[in-house]
Amino acid sequence: MAIKADKSPAFTTIGRPLDRTDGRLKVTGRAAYTGDIPAEGLLHAVLITSTIARGSVSKIDSSAAEALPGVIAVFSPANPPGIVPKSDKTGKESQLLLQTNKVFYHGQIIGLVVAESLEQAQHAASLVKVNYRRSQAVTKMDTRASALVTPEDAGGGRGSIKSGLAAASSTIKATYTTPTESHNPMEPFATTAVWQGQALTLYDSTQAITNTQKNIAAALGIGPAKVRVISHFVGGGFGCKLSTWAHVGITAMAARKLKRPVKLVMSRSQMFGPVGFRPKTIQTVTLAAKKDGSLTAMRHDTISETSRFVEFIEHCSSVSLNTYLCKNVSTSQRVAPIDIGKPTWMRAPGHAPGSFALECAMDELACALKIDPIALRLRNYADTDQESGLPWSSNALKECYKLGAEKFGWHMRSPKPGSVREDGLLTGMGMATAVHSVWRNPSQAMVRILADGTAVASAGTQEIGTGTYTVMSQIAAEILGLPIDKVDFKLGDSDLPHAPLSGGSTTAGSVGPAVAQAAREALRKLINTAVADPQSPLYGAAAEAVSCRDGALSANGKSESFAAIVARTPEKYIEAKVDHKPGDEEKHFAMSTFGAQFAEVAVDPDLGLIHVRRFVGAYGGGRILNAKTARSQMLGGIAFGIGMALTEQTIMDNNCHRIVNNNLGEYYLPSNADVPHLDVYFVQEDDAHVNDLGVKGIGELGITGVAAAIANAVYNATGKRVRDLPITLDKLI
Ligand code: MOS
Repeated sequence: MAIKADKSPAFTTIGRPLDRTDGRLKVTGRAAYTGDIPAEGLLHAVLITSTIARGSVSKIDSSAAEALPGVIAVFSPANPPGIVPKSDKTGKESQLLLQTNKVFYHGQIIGLVVAESLEQAQHAASLVKVNYRRSQAVTKMDTRASALVTPEDAGGGRGSIKSGLAAASSTIKATYTTPTESHNPMEPFATTAVWQGQALTLYDSTQAITNTQKNIAAALGIGPAKVRVISHFVGGGFGCKLSTWAHVGITAMAARKLKRPVKLVMSRSQMFGPVGFRPKTIQTVTLAAKKDGSLTAMRHDTISETSRFVEFIEHCSSVSLNTYLCKNVSTSQRVAPIDIGKPTWMRAPGHAPGSFALECAMDELACALKIDPIALRLRNYADTDQESGLPWSSNALKECYKLGAEKFGWHMRSPKPGSVREDGLLTGMGMATAVHSVWRNPSQAMVRILADGTAVASAGTQEIGTGTYTVMSQIAAEILGLPIDKVDFKLGDSDLPHAPLSGGSTTAGSVGPAVAQAAREALRKLINTAVADPQSPLYGAAAEAVSCRDGALSANGKSESFAAIVARTPEKYIEAKVDHKPGDEEKHFAMSTFGAQFAEVAVDPDLGLIHVRRFVGAYGGGRILNAKTARSQMLGGIAFGIGMALTEQTIMDNNCHRIVNNNLGEYYLPSNADVPHLDVYFVQEDDAHVNDLGVKGIGELGITGVAAAIANAVYNATGKRVRDLPITLDKLI
């Protein structure tokens, strides 16, 4: 096969449902996660966290802890392991590195115990006595207008809601609420700081090694070049591991001060503390439409909780800006600052809760107008991006509705709520649109062809369980014409070419094109080397006439292996490093991913028990790099959505101002029995604009719309419209 242009449909490695290249390491337990990394003379650290939600630490008595054998140090705001320099621009958040005695929320880090063993550190931490000055805390969202803050640029829209409402024959208005949710990755936060002189090596469970390097360098007052961050495997992050939380800096400071490596692994209950959560939201949606279903006005107003010391906005309302065709749209976002930790991004931030409200409202409108829910959405299909007016780079939403409906058997649905009974259970079907933004980031990458005929590709990206090792190896193998087992992909080290954080579904579409470009450059260098080398059978051939296949170059009926060409170079390798930047395509095209979600539920009318019986999702995500890992992404998204719909909530006791279900026994994640047979389909989408590979990124699309599809199915089954997640049995009986 000749060298392929990236847009060639004739890919042989890209797209295939290959097993994960790191799968064997993982299932045999040989994949070293952060907490598994050994270090000489390692000390163990345990956090002390506040037991009040507002006030200050007045006194810490650590004498009993310090008297224990093996205890090396107890740090607190009175005795911090280091001082954050004024040059650190992270500002308000850096005070959480034991730089202040103020307490902003229950669970805030107020101390660190370091000991020779984990057990000694845990025991010592239990003996530390803390006295507080308490102030009155508020942890319940106060929704009075006077208590709310409107962030800048937090609203948007177009046209006139007033004239849109006047033109409508039907209007629905409803308020939807979603609870605080916690990420709960299987691997807790873990960090190990190892200093050699003035240089730090930090093993950290993070979705963002480059940001961690920058933030930790700033907190320590040293240059980023002095900080190396390593993260080869991450056991789930779902957004909470995008930020550099205070425990990382505190651990690095402690190791510097004690001149020994220090390791910190958070307990499960601490995972509900100083490391973020999805904030509670209250969303009011108004939809107005003509008799035929065409939308004349859409309004989406969101209030979300945030911390008092730093603001975080859960951008739910923006989902209403460009999902549907409508001339008159208004959105707003306000936040309620209270005495809680800082909320953060959680899988499909904004889009997951936002699509719950919008897609339930669409279902309510369909019922009011007596129009089929899919027909209503098709009537309002936006053939251009309604905000920018630009055409979509690609948009397979219509095909997703069609394919999903066919596979699901939507035609069997009875439109009359509460009308279908099977074996004493009420059954129902619901659907929703899935939607997520496409963001593209610059990334570097490197590809090196070695004298043994193999290649190493690398980029400082992260493997957060999505299949990054595998898909990046596929891309390099494809371009180089090598079998995948001849290509190694390295990631998770800040010494590698820099790549963006692994969030916002951006890795495949940002790092992938960089790896492809580096592979093309390396191949070009290999060809140029061969045709200029009198010892090569390809000597004198025109570079354009050279093709590559199975680890060899050929031209004019002659060929030579990569290995032989590279072996004659003085360096014994040929490499290319690139800085890939997205072009100006966004000036001409709007980019988004879409899909259609379908749920069938069975509800016990006496007990209110809800069971998702079947779920079908059909998605358009541009080019799919690996059909198997992509499917797994969507399965994970749907399972997350089932949790969001039916079980997950982080419960705050508003009297003691603490989270009461801070463990996996009482924070109900969906388990196998809650997740039925799931069917995932991808509609082929050829996107010639998003990047050279046509990859849009699918990580977060899978959760969007799922909770709405289930809520709509519950309504169809029972006639009860539950607008408050999770839909627990008490809300149905
Ligand atoms: Mo995701 S919330 O961008 O990890």
